[in-house]
Amino acid sequence: MNTSNQIPDDIIFPKPVPVKLTSAEFIRAIRAFSVPSSLTAMWHLGQNSWVLKTEEGRVIAIDPYLTDFCAGGRTGVRNDKSRILPVFIEPEDFDVDIMILTHGHADHTDPWTIERYPRKANTLFLAPWQSTLVLKDAGVPANRIELMHPLQTWKEEGLEITGCFAEPTSNEELNHMGFAFRFSGGRVYYNSGDTAKSELLSHVRDFGVHWMSICINGGYHNLSHWEAAEITALIQPKIAIPAHYDMMPHNVQSPHMFKKSLSLLAPQVEYRKLDYYEAALF
Ligand SMILES: [Fe+2]
Repeated sequence: MNTSNQIPDDIIFPKPVPVKLTSAEFIRAIRAFSVPSSLTAMWHLGQNSWVLKTEEGRVIAIDPYLTDFCAGGRTGVRNDKSRILPVFIEPEDFDVDIMILTHGHADHTDPWTIERYPRKANTLFLAPWQSTLVLKDAGVPANRIELMHPLQTWKEEGLEITGCFAEPTSNEELNHMGFAFRFSGGRVYYNSGDTAKSELLSHVRDFGVHWMSICINGGYHNLSHWEAAEITALIQPKIAIPAHYDMMPHNVQSPHMFKKSLSLLAPQVEYRKLDYYEAALF
């Protein structure tokens, strides 16, 4: 029991995020980071944006939302969808080997991020169909795009990436996916993408998930913190990380609500929230 008068950090939320590193410094730190054997490093960039680095040195991005596109589209006018997190990495500095897009909404497949990303020809993009259209429009060469479907696996030595089911949250985007990553040694990470509640998500349990991240914001038909805990209980990972709660003023959810729901519905699962800029090892 917490007997101190200190209010846990994530109850007063959101808080400003101090900028610790320049964008170029942050990318250099990721490229230079040495991942211990049998582990994977992971950084959270807000919303469902993540960077993973494997022990072999591969750098993988998931849904990099590095601009403020959702606010005013191409008008650039700020509004109630304007990001409340700093841009951690400018698209011009971004440098990854594999980029995963879970669906075509702009906070996941961001046209500006992709257009400004200079390493399109050296990066492999794995994405469902509607995201592939955005990628092509943003100038990604067709031979760098791998169209993915649920239960389809892309693999190379030491890495298997399999599409998972996700329940769409709006009727103009019906190609939502999650992804399961199997790393060297067999450890599995699952990323839910954006999904509404469905018992079909229980298929992810078959991967034997070690750690997962899951949307908890509850807005626009996404899983609520309670539903996210219900789905986590179905999947039975060792560790669950909250996601998609911190980017837009009308779409925030304090992660401590998920922590509480998880403690009630899946008490055997460890809750872990990632700090921005900090590498976490799994
Ligand atoms: Fe989203």
